[in-house]
Amino acid sequence: MEWNLKEAMEYYASQGAPGEQGALVALLREVQRECGGIPAEIPGQIAAGYGIKEGLILALIKRIPSLNLKESRVLELCAGPNCRGGELGTYAETRYPGVTVQYVPCMRLCGKGPNLRWKGQLYHGADKTLIDRLMK
Ligand code: FES
Repeated sequence: MEWNLKEAMEYYASQGAPGEQGALVALLREVQRECGGIPAEIPGQIAAGYGIKEGLILALIKRIPSLNLKESRVLELCAGPNCRGGELGTYAETRYPGVTVQYVPCMRLCGKGPNLRWKGQLYHGADKTLIDRLMK
């Protein structure tokens, strides 16, 4: 049987999560074990599923040294008419195979494009040189 987050959350809810902190930590440990680290998008998914703040989960991960967030390798590129991130996306995917490229319709900063987001930070005037610098 393949592991999935929804079933794990249901199980730990039956153990008292999210109110019972021990059950929440046990869920995070299971995620870490199954995924080889806690993927960056998981705290948000757990928070949404349990109706709690993501910041609470992130604070818990930070406080417990054996829990580690997996570094996100998702490069978000604006694919809107002014940025046209397609060429940069092809470049990033070809040159950096471990990176996942996601296209966003418009980041609503059209005058500053091409725009991209990497590790939560927004960058303007993106080009191949910027991508090389960010991937190092
Ligand atoms: S087209 Fe890229 S921000 Fe709008």
